[in-house]
Amino acid sequence: MADFDFDVLVIGSGPGGYVAAIRAAQLGLKTACAEGRETLGGTCLNVGCIPSKAMLHASEYFDAAANGAFAKLGIKVKPELDLDAMHGQRKDAVKGLTGGIEFLFKKNKVEWVKGYATFTGPNTVKVGDRTVTAKNIIIATGSSVTPLPGVEIDQKVVVDSTGALELPKVPEHMVVIGGGVIGLELGSVWRRLGAKVTCVEFLDQILPGFDGEVRKEANKIMKKQGIEFKLGTKVTGVATKGGKATLTVEPAKGGASETIDADCVLVSIGRKPNTDGLGLDAIGLQVNNRGQIETDHDFRTKVPGVWAIGDVIPGPMLAHKAEDEGIAVAENIAGLTGIVNHDVIPSVVYTMPEIAGVGLTEEQAKEKGEVKVGKFPMLANSRAKTNHEPDGFVKVIADAKSDRVLGVWCIASVAGTMIAQAAQAMEFGATSEDIAYTCHAHPTHSEALKEAAMAVTGKPIHI
Ligand code: FAD
Ligand code: NAI
Repeated sequence: MADFDFDVLVIGSGPGGYVAAIRAAQLGLKTACAEGRETLGGTCLNVGCIPSKAMLHASEYFDAAANGAFAKLGIKVKPELDLDAMHGQRKDAVKGLTGGIEFLFKKNKVEWVKGYATFTGPNTVKVGDRTVTAKNIIIATGSSVTPLPGVEIDQKVVVDSTGALELPKVPEHMVVIGGGVIGLELGSVWRRLGAKVTCVEFLDQILPGFDGEVRKEANKIMKKQGIEFKLGTKVTGVATKGGKATLTVEPAKGGASETIDADCVLVSIGRKPNTDGLGLDAIGLQVNNRGQIETDHDFRTKVPGVWAIGDVIPGPMLAHKAEDEGIAVAENIAGLTGIVNHDVIPSVVYTMPEIAGVGLTEEQAKEKGEVKVGKFPMLANSRAKTNHEPDGFVKVIADAKSDRVLGVWCIASVAGTMIAQAAQAMEFGATSEDIAYTCHAHPTHSEALKEAAMAVTGKPIHI
């Protein structure tokens, strides 16, 4: 060790980086983490998962009060929006959690090297004026918003997700470009708070990567809630003037163009890996044609002593995937065996109802072989029915011969929580019968998963 300042230097303190740093320190390695932001926690804690969920949670209550859901429970209220206070609780959540990472760094003796790191040579980076050397360097620099060519983000009229979390007033008409996860979540926030929301999606269906039936049902539910969709449509330009925007759109396959007026435009067409300014040339590391850093199964890059995890490498851009890779890479560096099962990474959209899935979609599963599918509607689940949450279903996809569960998809108020059980079952190689014969507490939404599993080979009871 004598030759290096640290055993491990992590670049970036998002869920990938901070978790890797803490695990490395727990394993007895002298560890530092370079972070250029003013607070730790990366995209997720500062401008991603946490603030978006703070706004989703608060706006969901507002919506429930404003649109009759509370009234159905016998609670009469006339809600009044205090947007400043709503933003205040969002900022408090971020402050508490980012401060929590700083506390954990101190507790675990991880040194925070403040500033952006640039490779200057093997095992060496510069952070501001400081040169730092480390035997192992983990790149965990995350991702940032993919720009839409010709559309300038001013964070006032045309915003990205960061701007959309902080709007000082409810827009009259928000146009969301991209019907993916961010578009649906943040579109829902502002729709609930009173904006008219139009979502322009290039493909002919929202939520690419999700199960086909789930995509269709999610579209139907979001439409019912008031979001207007323009599917199979591309934005060819956005002109802004005097606090307003005019979008020009045309069918994705070509055809006549039309214009849409809006006072807020959210660009949410995906995210791209952060490698600019990292000085990868100095160590001879190249990115692939999607701008990602490729690694082997152990998260080693092609350059000895350089590892990479999280949004900057291939795979879903999700905080829990980055976290698990953070633990695994630290364990691999320490000589243990850190593994992430990339086939079983759940994905959740935190709308109401939530939309979640793990494993293969029905389409993907059918491409691989014969499958059996069991479905159960939330309408027939006693708890969902009692709670006035009738929308959605659970779907279990199993291999026709072995009955092994290949994928589970779910639209339900607490789908994000329910999907953890499915992920665990799949991690243990469960069959649909294993889930069907597991005793589930009553009355819970999770019983719908049991009944969907029962539907794979036999019959559910409640439908
Ligand atoms: P990041 O969290 O992006 O962190 C990278 C860090 O590296 C940043 O802080 C950056 O400042 C720093 N950095 C970059 N370059 C350098 C450098 N050269 N030197 C020093 N520091 C550097 N995922 C979920 O699973 N659930 C959700 O609910 C969810 N919600 C989201 C909502 C929004 C609005 C957005 C935008 C994303 C959301 N995500 C969610 C995705 C999630 O935020 C990312 O997948 C996750 O943050 C990736 O973690 P990471 O550690 O790879 O990188
Ligand atoms: P996304 O990849 O989820 O969706 C982008 C959408 O934009 C796609 O449907 C795509 O077809 C569409 N699109 C692309 N170009 C377009 C164009 N020119 N015009 C119209 N539509 C276009 O990306 P999004 O929503 O920006 O999110 C980025 C990442 O952040 C995702 O990969 C996601 O994993 C992560 N995230 C995760 C969350 C969660 O787990 N709940 C919440 C928010 C973000």
